[in-house]
Amino acid sequence: MTHAHIAGSIHADVAKAGPQWLTLPEDLNQLRSELWPAGTERDAQGRIVIGGVALSQVAASHGTPAYLIDEQDFRARARAFRDSFADWRVYYAGKALLSRTVARWVMEEGLCLDVTTMGEMRIALAGGMPAARLGFHGNNKSLEEIRFALEQGVGRIIVDSFHEIDRIEAACQELGATAQVLVRVTTGVEAHTHEYIATAHEDQKFGLSILGGHALAALVRCQSSSSIQLRGIHSHIGSQIFETHGFEVAIRRTLRLAEQFRVATGVELAELDLGGGFGIAYTEADSPMPTAELARAFDEILDHECRAFGLRRPELSIEPGRAICGPAGVALYEVGTVKAVELENGRSRTYVSVDGGMSDNIRPALYAAEYSCALANRTSDADPVLARVVGKHCEGGDILIRDVFLPRDIAPGDLIAVPGSGAYCRSMASNYNQVPKPPLLAASQGQVQTLLRRETLEDLMRLDVGE
Ligand code: LLP
Repeated sequence: MTHAHIAGSIHADVAKAGPQWLTLPEDLNQLRSELWPAGTERDAQGRIVIGGVALSQVAASHGTPAYLIDEQDFRARARAFRDSFADWRVYYAGKALLSRTVARWVMEEGLCLDVTTMGEMRIALAGGMPAARLGFHGNNKSLEEIRFALEQGVGRIIVDSFHEIDRIEAACQELGATAQVLVRVTTGVEAHTHEYIATAHEDQKFGLSILGGHALAALVRCQSSSSIQLRGIHSHIGSQIFETHGFEVAIRRTLRLAEQFRVATGVELAELDLGGGFGIAYTEADSPMPTAELARAFDEILDHECRAFGLRRPELSIEPGRAICGPAGVALYEVGTVKAVELENGRSRTYVSVDGGMSDNIRPALYAAEYSCALANRTSDADPVLARVVGKHCEGGDILIRDVFLPRDIAPGDLIAVPGSGAYCRSMASNYNQVPKPPLLAASQGQVQTLLRRETLEDLMRLDVGE
């Protein structure tokens, strides 16, 4: 009787148990360059090193869980957008990740910044971003926020409703100010992404519908207002998008609207903002377009569509968030428990519990987002097991990584790093189960800097002012 190679038969078995896209890596210790900040490597001791700093050192000095951004990688991605979209204005979407230092990096790299709330405006300004380079978004901006934006001289406000136009006019009259405005429209494009992050189809809260005529009416209303200087149209079709087709349709529809506006008023709109949404690689299944290629595709589409409508090429802008900060960041956790759970089909799954979870990364629970991870403090020659990385929260859905291969000898005390965690993790963190939020750290040239300190239980206790 011939025996299969033991490792081989185990490999075949575990591979079948995972999702189709998940392939058994030849070497579990290898780090796929598409997923990690540029230059990420393992040192002689097998530890993952980012920005010149070993993650084990970060864990020792700053604790876990922690979010670590590679400053140079963030800056390089910001520059890639600035250089590739050369005659565009690039607004970094601060909702993805923001702190004063992050705002300063964005400013130093020559980008503008998209903010959505008073809090984001305050942080951006405190980071030194000139108000003129801010674009103010949101579907329910308060009068107080609008006043503040006008007083500070925020570059433009992206209006989202007729009530907001009323509010802007009132604030402008009160302050003797003029607002620079773009009208956010819904183009009816269904981007191929999760329902909650696809924003341009009709039945959702953002923007004014082109189809329903509200977009044109809002443009005309802004044009005729003495307090408002209408700049143009804004469209954001969704997030984590890999194809340009949805953008192409959005460009065509927004330009058609610009053409209708020209016919109605004789005025050619100066500006078109196409929003953000450029996808990144979270797992081996994702293959995003290089930024330069994306820019070329956008430029071609625009030239073609402008010619078709007989319009001058407008001033253009985009608002990438995730594509700048996402791949630059990792989450770092310590393993607390490991247990095998028998499955119905006779297989077993290894549950690896870490010291964070859905309070610092809600994306898997909210969008069924997929991540990958790697053992960060050492390499291992052990066989792979199909693992599920889960958090410490009191909830079955507290899953960080649904399916990933990890070495069989993974044990309490090991460190796990999750790439692609720079966007919408720390910025969407909560205190569920009264868990303090992890710190945001930046690594560069061998140094670690704290951008947002770890919350403490004292911080939480101080908020609790009841008797
Ligand atoms: N511009 C506007 C008007 C937006 O609403 C957004 C994202 C962006 C730009 C930036 O999109 P990005 O390039 O980062 O995809 N929290 C979700 C995504 C929701 C994004 C909301 N708006 C997530 O975790 O995937």
